[in-house]
Amino acid sequence: MIKPLRKAVLPVAGLGTRFLPATKALAKEMLPVVDKPLIQYAVEEARAAGIEQFCLITGRGKTALVEHFDIAFELEATLRERDKTEALASLEGCSMQPGTIMSVRQQVPLGLGHAIWCARAFIGDDPFAILLPDDVILSETPCLKQLADAYHATGGNVVAVVDVPRAHTGRYGILKTGADDGKLVEVTGLVEKPKPEAAPSTLSIIGRYVLLPEVIGHLSRFERGAGGEIQLTDAMARMIGSKPFHGLRYEGRRFDCGDKVGFLEAQIAFALKRPDMAGQVKSFLKQYV
Ligand code: UTP
Repeated sequence: MIKPLRKAVLPVAGLGTRFLPATKALAKEMLPVVDKPLIQYAVEEARAAGIEQFCLITGRGKTALVEHFDIAFELEATLRERDKTEALASLEGCSMQPGTIMSVRQQVPLGLGHAIWCARAFIGDDPFAILLPDDVILSETPCLKQLADAYHATGGNVVAVVDVPRAHTGRYGILKTGADDGKLVEVTGLVEKPKPEAAPSTLSIIGRYVLLPEVIGHLSRFERGAGGEIQLTDAMARMIGSKPFHGLRYEGRRFDCGDKVGFLEAQIAFALKRPDMAGQVKSFLKQYV
């Protein structure tokens, strides 16, 4: 029996060094694209994929992320008093049903694999999604919904993948591929951050996963991988062969908001999608290019 996908883990305990000094006292995931923080894009995408339970993996200086999904009673009362209905409505996306969001502390950022292991009690025996809020995706169908559909069809692990230039393989987890129907590709091997000449393909994993709970057992070995970190990719690789494992070429455009240029590109792309801003943004862009 294929268990339905209802849980999501959102790791947000990284140091965000590429955005210093902005991230000295502010969590990277609270940086906004237009007017919404990165974390909210991820939560809204997860909700649209049927996720009901959320677990944030936080670290030092990340309390604003938890606060963001709390009720801001005084703010809401003031907005109501002043008839600021639009501003009030804008808060709807960050309101959660009681008991549906929890946070777990990763005291030391030992790597993405370790962050996921910290959620082991939340995950239990259930399949779960992982969303890295750095990756913001513009698409018709939410990216995680596409992955969830593939999971419900295959009953196994599914990761979102995209082709990258060979020169960039050292930044990603890379697939060794088997059967490929052009959309869904069988994963026969996984390598974290291989050098271009050693990469088995150029299909790279982006920050969306649906995994089976068995991955926790593999993470419990605490093996250090690329960069001395406990890598999720290495633990996922151990499930190949015993469980179905696929990469999904998702439909959509992904912006790497953990990178300065990717973050700026996301601002422009999302602003151009907004009827209230698109005209103004287009006309000022023309002045610069
Ligand atoms: P990144 O590799 O982007 O690292 O992590 P980072 O610390 O966030 O940013 P830079 O590279 O220093 O600028 C990918 C994701 O994994 C989480 C991060 O919060 C981010 O969502 N992460 C990473 C953890 O939660 N814990 C870790 O130990 C490492």
